[in-house]
Amino acid sequence: MLSQKMKDALNQQVLMEAQSSQAYLAMGSWAEIQPGLKGVTQFFFRHSDEERMHMLKLIHYINERGGFAVVPALEQPALTFVSLKKAFEILFEHEVKVSNSINDLVDMALSEKDYATHNFLQWYVNEQIEEERLARDCNDKLELIGEDKSGLYLFDRDIMTMNGGGKSGF
Ligand code: FEO
Repeated sequence: MLSQKMKDALNQQVLMEAQSSQAYLAMGSWAEIQPGLKGVTQFFFRHSDEERMHMLKLIHYINERGGFAVVPALEQPALTFVSLKKAFEILFEHEVKVSNSINDLVDMALSEKDYATHNFLQWYVNEQIEEERLARDCNDKLELIGEDKSGLYLFDRDIMTMNGGGKSGF
Protein backbone atom coordinates (compact mmCIF):
# COMPACT_ATOMS: atom_id res chain seq x y z
CA MET A 1 0.00 0.00 0.00
CA LEU A 2 1.33 3.39 -0.95
CA SER A 3 1.38 6.23 1.56
CA GLN A 4 -0.58 9.34 0.62
CA LYS A 5 2.70 11.22 0.26
CA MET A 6 4.07 8.59 -2.11
CA LYS A 7 0.84 8.49 -4.13
CA ASP A 8 0.98 12.26 -4.58
CA ALA A 9 4.65 12.18 -5.55
CA LEU A 10 4.12 9.36 -8.08
CA ASN A 11 1.19 11.26 -9.55
CA GLN A 12 3.46 14.27 -9.94
CA GLN A 13 5.80 12.01 -11.89
CA VAL A 14 2.86 10.94 -14.08
CA LEU A 15 2.42 14.62 -14.88
CA MET A 16 6.11 15.06 -15.63
CA GLU A 17 6.21 12.09 -18.01
CA ALA A 18 3.03 13.30 -19.73
CA GLN A 19 4.52 16.76 -20.16
CA SER A 20 7.70 15.21 -21.53
CA SER A 21 5.65 13.29 -24.07
CA GLN A 22 3.85 16.48 -25.13
CA ALA A 23 7.09 18.47 -25.33
CA TYR A 24 8.75 15.90 -27.61
CA LEU A 25 5.58 15.54 -29.67
CA ALA A 26 5.77 19.30 -30.32
CA MET A 27 9.44 18.98 -31.25
CA GLY A 28 8.47 16.21 -33.70
CA SER A 29 5.78 18.34 -35.29
CA TRP A 30 8.20 21.26 -35.62
CA ALA A 31 10.94 19.04 -37.08
CA GLU A 32 8.53 17.52 -39.58
CA ILE A 33 8.03 20.84 -41.32
CA GLN A 34 11.76 21.65 -41.46
CA PRO A 35 13.54 20.65 -44.66
CA GLY A 36 15.69 17.52 -44.46
CA LEU A 37 15.03 16.45 -40.87
CA LYS A 38 13.29 13.15 -41.47
CA GLY A 39 15.48 11.21 -39.06
CA VAL A 40 15.20 13.82 -36.34
CA THR A 41 11.43 13.91 -36.82
CA GLN A 42 11.17 10.16 -36.26
CA PHE A 43 13.45 10.47 -33.25
CA PHE A 44 11.24 13.05 -31.55
CA PHE A 45 8.01 11.21 -32.29
CA ARG A 46 9.44 7.95 -31.01
CA HIS A 47 10.77 9.68 -27.94
CA SER A 48 7.32 11.11 -27.29
CA ASP A 49 5.85 7.59 -27.47
CA GLU A 50 8.48 6.37 -25.02
CA GLU A 51 7.53 9.07 -22.54
CA ARG A 52 3.90 8.06 -22.82
CA MET A 53 4.97 4.51 -22.01
CA HIS A 54 6.86 5.81 -18.94
CA MET A 55 3.67 7.57 -17.86
CA LEU A 56 1.52 4.46 -18.39
CA LYS A 57 3.91 2.32 -16.37
CA LEU A 58 3.50 4.72 -13.45
CA ILE A 59 -0.29 4.84 -13.83
CA HIS A 60 -0.54 1.04 -13.65
CA TYR A 61 1.81 0.88 -10.67
CA ILE A 62 -0.11 3.50 -8.66
CA ASN A 63 -3.43 1.76 -9.35
CA GLU A 64 -2.06 -1.71 -8.58
CA ARG A 65 -0.77 -0.52 -5.20
CA GLY A 66 -4.09 0.80 -3.97
CA GLY A 67 -3.79 4.36 -5.23
CA PHE A 68 -5.59 6.25 -7.96
CA ALA A 69 -3.52 7.50 -10.85
CA VAL A 70 -4.71 10.94 -11.89
CA VAL A 71 -4.61 11.73 -15.57
CA PRO A 72 -3.32 15.30 -15.52
CA ALA A 73 -4.15 18.44 -17.46
CA LEU A 74 -1.19 19.57 -19.53
CA GLU A 75 0.33 22.90 -20.41
CA GLN A 76 0.98 23.63 -24.05
CA PRO A 77 4.66 22.95 -24.67
CA ALA A 78 7.05 25.10 -26.72
CA LEU A 79 5.96 24.76 -30.33
CA THR A 80 8.84 26.28 -32.28
CA PHE A 81 12.61 26.39 -31.81
CA VAL A 82 15.23 28.79 -33.10
CA SER A 83 17.40 25.86 -34.16
CA LEU A 84 17.73 22.11 -33.92
CA LYS A 85 20.57 22.63 -31.48
CA LYS A 86 18.27 24.64 -29.23
CA ALA A 87 15.62 21.91 -29.33
CA PHE A 88 18.18 19.31 -28.25
CA GLU A 89 19.50 21.58 -25.50
CA ILE A 90 15.97 21.86 -24.13
CA LEU A 91 15.56 18.10 -24.41
CA PHE A 92 18.74 17.46 -22.46
CA GLU A 93 17.88 19.97 -19.73
CA HIS A 94 14.46 18.39 -19.46
CA GLU A 95 15.92 14.91 -19.05
CA VAL A 96 18.19 16.14 -16.25
CA LYS A 97 15.12 17.50 -14.46
CA VAL A 98 13.37 14.15 -14.90
CA SER A 99 16.42 12.35 -13.47
CA ASN A 100 16.42 14.65 -10.43
CA SER A 101 12.74 14.03 -9.92
CA ILE A 102 13.25 10.24 -10.09
CA ASN A 103 16.10 10.54 -7.60
CA ASP A 104 13.82 12.45 -5.20
CA LEU A 105 11.25 9.66 -5.51
CA VAL A 106 13.91 7.05 -4.76
CA ASP A 107 14.91 9.04 -1.66
CA MET A 108 11.32 9.20 -0.52
CA ALA A 109 10.77 5.47 -1.07
CA LEU A 110 13.83 4.69 1.03
CA SER A 111 12.92 7.07 3.82
CA GLU A 112 9.43 5.53 3.98
CA LYS A 113 10.87 2.00 3.83
CA ASP A 114 8.67 1.44 0.76
CA TYR A 115 10.94 -1.14 -0.83
CA ALA A 116 8.43 -2.17 -3.49
CA THR A 117 8.35 1.37 -4.85
CA HIS A 118 12.09 1.61 -4.49
CA ASN A 119 12.42 -1.54 -6.58
CA PHE A 120 9.89 -0.27 -9.14
CA LEU A 121 11.81 2.98 -9.53
CA GLN A 122 15.07 1.27 -10.40
CA TRP A 123 13.78 0.80 -13.94
CA TYR A 124 13.44 4.59 -14.21
CA VAL A 125 16.88 5.17 -12.71
CA ASN A 126 18.43 3.00 -15.42
CA GLU A 127 16.27 4.51 -18.13
CA GLN A 128 17.41 8.02 -17.16
CA ILE A 129 21.09 7.06 -17.40
CA GLU A 130 20.42 5.97 -20.98
CA GLU A 131 18.28 8.97 -21.88
CA GLU A 132 20.74 11.49 -20.51
CA ARG A 133 23.61 9.77 -22.32
CA LEU A 134 21.78 9.81 -25.64
CA ALA A 135 20.70 13.45 -25.23
CA ARG A 136 24.24 14.46 -24.30
CA ASP A 137 25.64 12.62 -27.36
CA CYS A 138 23.20 14.48 -29.61
CA ASN A 139 24.17 17.82 -28.09
CA ASP A 140 27.89 17.09 -28.47
CA LYS A 141 27.44 16.12 -32.11
CA LEU A 142 25.39 19.24 -32.88
CA GLU A 143 28.02 21.39 -31.18
CA LEU A 144 30.67 19.92 -33.48
CA ILE A 145 28.50 20.27 -36.57
CA GLY A 146 27.77 23.96 -36.03
CA GLU A 147 26.46 25.45 -39.26
CA ASP A 148 27.87 22.68 -41.47
CA LYS A 149 24.99 21.46 -43.65
CA SER A 150 26.64 18.21 -44.69
CA GLY A 151 27.27 17.47 -41.01
CA LEU A 152 23.62 18.05 -40.29
CA TYR A 153 22.69 15.75 -43.16
CA LEU A 154 24.77 12.97 -41.61
CA PHE A 155 23.38 13.69 -38.14
CA ASP A 156 19.85 13.33 -39.47
CA ARG A 157 20.77 10.04 -41.11
CA ASP A 158 22.66 8.66 -38.09
CA ILE A 159 20.05 9.57 -35.52
CA MET A 160 17.77 6.92 -36.98
CA THR A 161 20.21 4.24 -35.79
CA MET A 162 21.03 6.08 -32.54
CA ASN A 163 17.32 5.84 -31.81
CA GLY A 164 17.43 2.08 -31.49
CA GLY A 165 21.00 1.93 -30.29
CA GLY A 166 20.45 2.43 -26.59
CA LYS A 167 18.79 0.12 -24.10
CA SER A 168 15.68 2.23 -24.11
CA GLY A 169 16.14 3.56 -27.62
CA PHE A 170 14.31 6.58 -26.16
FE1 FEO B 1 10.62 9.55 -19.03
FE2 FEO B 1 12.77 11.00 -20.62
O1 FEO B 1 11.92 10.75 -19.02
